[in-house]
Amino acid sequence: MTTTSTSNLLADILRQRREKLAKLIDFPAILWSGSPSPRNFTANIFPHRPSSHFLYFAGLPLQNAAIRLEAGKLLLFMDNPGASSALWHGEMPTRDQIAEQIGADAAYPMVELKSHLQGVATIAVQDAASWTQQSQLLDRWILPLSAPENIDLELQLAIVELRLTHDEAGLAEIRNAVSVTVEAHKAGMAATSTAKTEAQVRAAMEAAIISHNMTTSYNSIVTVRGEVLHNEHYGNTLQPYDLLLADVGAETRTGWAADVTRTWAVNGKFSSTQRDIYDVVLAAHDTCINKIRPGVEYEEIHLCACQVIAEGLVNLGILQGNSEELVDMDAHALFFPHGIGHLLGLDVHDMEDLGDLAGYEPGRERSDRFGLGYLRLNRPLRVGMLVTIEPGFYQVPAIINNAQNRESFGKYVNWERLSQFSDVRGIRIEDDVLVTDNASEVLTAALPTSADAVEQLTVSSEQ
Ligand code: GLY
Ligand code: MN
Repeated sequence: MTTTSTSNLLADILRQRREKLAKLIDFPAILWSGSPSPRNFTANIFPHRPSSHFLYFAGLPLQNAAIRLEAGKLLLFMDNPGASSALWHGEMPTRDQIAEQIGADAAYPMVELKSHLQGVATIAVQDAASWTQQSQLLDRWILPLSAPENIDLELQLAIVELRLTHDEAGLAEIRNAVSVTVEAHKAGMAATSTAKTEAQVRAAMEAAIISHNMTTSYNSIVTVRGEVLHNEHYGNTLQPYDLLLADVGAETRTGWAADVTRTWAVNGKFSSTQRDIYDVVLAAHDTCINKIRPGVEYEEIHLCACQVIAEGLVNLGILQGNSEELVDMDAHALFFPHGIGHLLGLDVHDMEDLGDLAGYEPGRERSDRFGLGYLRLNRPLRVGMLVTIEPGFYQVPAIINNAQNRESFGKYVNWERLSQFSDVRGIRIEDDVLVTDNASEVLTAALPTSADAVEQLTVSSEQ
C-alpha cells in the first residue's frame, strides 16, 4: 500500500481527471490496461499499446494492470515483477513505486481485483486475452458498444465528455508529438531526392520519430499511390513524375498522438496539373481552418470543403455544372470520398473504439449519403477540441469507374479533361487544429502547406 504524493505533477493531473469523472458518474469504474499479444510465442510479443481510456486516468503505459476509480479515488491493481523479470527486462518499478507516481490511494496484486467488482462499469479493451478476463470477472459480455440503460454506456458517455476537450497536460503531450511529427515530415521531404523507394522515405520519417524515443500513432502511409486511402505498402519505386503522399504521425510514450499529411513531388517540382489540383485542395484546407471556432458545426466545415473542391474542379474543367448543385448531389465525392477529418487525442481517431459515441452528437447518426457517410465527426465544435482538417483529391478507379457512379455522375465529369490529370493519383493536406476561445490554433503550422514552400523543402535537400 502507498499514499498519494502531493508534490507529483502527474498525480495532480490524474487526480483532476478522476475528480471530473466523479462529478459525472456515481458508480465505480474499472479500466484495464490490456496485455501484450504474442507474435509467434509467448516470449516474443508485439509492442504493447495500453487502452487509451486507461492511459487517460493512469498516465503511464502499464500492461497487465487495472485501475478502479470511484468518487475521485484511484486503486491500482498489478503484480510486482516476477523472480526472473530483472534478468530479462532489467529492474522494473514495483507496484508501490508506480502507485506513488500516479497518486493511487492504494495498490493491490491483480488477484485482489475480484473483491472490488461490486457494481462496477467498464470499457472493452482491444486485446482478446484481457477482454475475456474482463467478461469473465464481471460475469457479463463487455461489448465495445453497450446497450442503453447499461452502466457501461453511462461510463463511456462520461469519459467521452471528458476526453472530447483536452486539458493543458494532454495538450502539452500532443504538442510534443506534433513537433516530432513536423520534423519527420521535413526529414521525409529531404530524403526524397536520394531515395529510390517509398520504403526509404518511410524509414527517414520514422527514424526521426524513433530518434525522439516515440513511436508512430498509426501505420504510416508513405506512397506514390495516394489514391489508396490507407495504403500500408511501401514497395513502389519512386519515379520523377510521381507525387508522394505521406500521412505520418508521432505518438508520445504516454500515448498522445499527432496526425499529419503532406503531398510533394518526387522530383521536387509539381507539374502544372499537380499544382492545379494541389491548390484546390489547399484552398479547401485553408477555408475550413478559417471557419473553425466554438459553436460551428463540424459537418458545416466538411460541406465547406466539398464546396471549395467542387468549385475548384469546375474551374479546372473537370466537373461541369453549378458547384452547389454538384455538392447537393454528391458529385464532388467522386474525387473527395472521405470526411474532412476527425477528433484527435490519445487515439489518432480519438475514441473510435466506441463507434460514433464520441464523434456524433447524441441523436445524430451517420448519413447514408455518398458524400457524407465517411464523416467521422458530427458535433458543434467546443473550446479545447482537437480536430484534423484533411481535404483531398483522389482518382480511385473503384469509385470513378463504378457503374452506378458513372450513371449518377458521369455526365457531370469532363472525362477528356480529367485524363489530362493522370499524374495526380492522390493529394491530401492534413493539419491538427485546436479549437480556441476565439477561433483556432493550427498546432502543426510549423510544417508549411503552400506548394512553393513544400517544393523548397523537397528541393533544398538536393544541396
Ligand atoms: N491518419 C489516417 C487517418 O486519419 O485516417
Ligand atoms: Mn487523419
